[in-house]
Amino acid sequence: MESTRSRLAQRLAEAGQSHLVQFWDELTPEQQAEMTSDLEAMDFQEINKFFGSAMEVSGSSKQEKMDTRMEPVPREVLGSVTRDRDCLKVWEEEGLRCISQSRVAVLLLAGGQGTRLGVSYPKGMYDVGLPSHKTLFQIQAERILRLQQLAEQSYGAKCCIPWYIMTSGRTMESTKKLFSRHSYFGLCKDNVIFFQQGMLPAMDYNGKIILESKNKLAMAPDGNGGLYRALGTQGIVEDMDRKGVKFIHVYCVDNILVKVADPAFVGFCVQKGADCGAKVVEKTNPTEAVGVVCKVDGRYQVVEYSEITLATAEKRSADGRLMFNAGNVANHFFTLAFLRDVVQTFEPQLQHHVAQKKIPYVDTQGRLIKPDKPNGIKMEKFVFDIFQFAKTFVVYEVLREDEFSALKNADSQDGKDTPTTVKHALMSLHHRWVLNAGGHFIDENGTRVPAIPSLKDGTDLPIKCEISPLVSYGGEGLEELVSGREFRPTLVIDESGAHELVKNGV
Ligand code: UTP
Repeated sequence: MESTRSRLAQRLAEAGQSHLVQFWDELTPEQQAEMTSDLEAMDFQEINKFFGSAMEVSGSSKQEKMDTRMEPVPREVLGSVTRDRDCLKVWEEEGLRCISQSRVAVLLLAGGQGTRLGVSYPKGMYDVGLPSHKTLFQIQAERILRLQQLAEQSYGAKCCIPWYIMTSGRTMESTKKLFSRHSYFGLCKDNVIFFQQGMLPAMDYNGKIILESKNKLAMAPDGNGGLYRALGTQGIVEDMDRKGVKFIHVYCVDNILVKVADPAFVGFCVQKGADCGAKVVEKTNPTEAVGVVCKVDGRYQVVEYSEITLATAEKRSADGRLMFNAGNVANHFFTLAFLRDVVQTFEPQLQHHVAQKKIPYVDTQGRLIKPDKPNGIKMEKFVFDIFQFAKTFVVYEVLREDEFSALKNADSQDGKDTPTTVKHALMSLHHRWVLNAGGHFIDENGTRVPAIPSLKDGTDLPIKCEISPLVSYGGEGLEELVSGREFRPTLVIDESGAHELVKNGV
């Protein structure tokens, strides 16, 4: 025991992190044992190296805007659901064919802490208040189930879409329990694979690891780009290989409209021979704080709003659209071969980004301090950091109102990206699906509601309508249920058909 302790003390001293054990003598034997095992598992030299290079990169990038080095995405690598309507059917068929051969997997990034939403459980377990009260996880699981069915119907072969779910230390257990409690939402247990991303300590500006209490380091997941290290350390690439997976759709847990394994997107990327693809939505407002996919010094990357000048953000092409308008929605396609190269060769070359944060800490007297301005950094890699290594990179533009609405913040008056806004986005999409399939809505007096409801009371609340993903993945198959019929909201369409909810619980 004593030798473990002195070995540890020596490692800490060599790494300039001896302060971590400053309260050692005040800890109980259990706390000491726990802290010893936490500290033993850490590679301080590596952490110090990460800190040094992350600070260096962040210091230099602050001084130089990207503007002069940027080029927009060229038309020849771009597919668009609005501008390439003629090709959509072919792409979708190609994607469904790949799915029917069980060559497509989905990978969910669910390791974030969801600090802005502020709940104590994983974001995927959040119920945004739909009539069904389904969680984000359930909605995604049911889309996978439905898509498997569609691929089977189209190609007559039984298939499966393995679902890889990346969690972090804090979200793993509760996520697993939820899936087990709900019998994996009807999916085969063996095809839902959980794995865990790494954690890194938060550090002060001098490179000292921050203690959040006398016996605990302030730890945080290493960003959604922690994916690539985890794919290697957790044997996920091998698992995909064993399962015959060739293509992977990666997405974030918080997008309620996400088209998991979107066959048109997958088919587009496969037909273009891409090893890496990004789904984007059009950025229409120059000052919207969204990263844009573009080329920098000839290589693809996502450039954040803060990295360019307003003049560049406002530049327009001949067609009147913003020149840098490929808004990143963290929705990507990768081949397994590319991911293998990333894991084996490129991942170690990626630098961490620095996020300045207010990190609660204990001072030298052992008092807990909650700072009111940033006092340190968290180090994160981003999922899009690997675009630069792609040999054939493509971009696929979709409609924001059909495919992207993210849950980031708790509800508040006029809030953005809240449970209310994402619920409305989903109901509004489903409303449009019903109209497109020939259904109608009536109000409490039996009068037809116009397709575009007027905003006479100053609100723009959507028609209350929810369609189970088990019935429709992307608006298909609804005609026989709704065509020529009138519905009084709340309309719910599920496996038992289309029915109006008597009580408006939404
Ligand atoms: P965000 O950057 O929005 O972070 O993650 P978050 O954790 O959801 O929320 P805040 O910033 O703490 O409020 C975008 C996506 O990346 C995943 C999240 O789970 C979400 O799907 N993510 C983020 C990870 O998987 N790991 C991370 O370390 C960070």
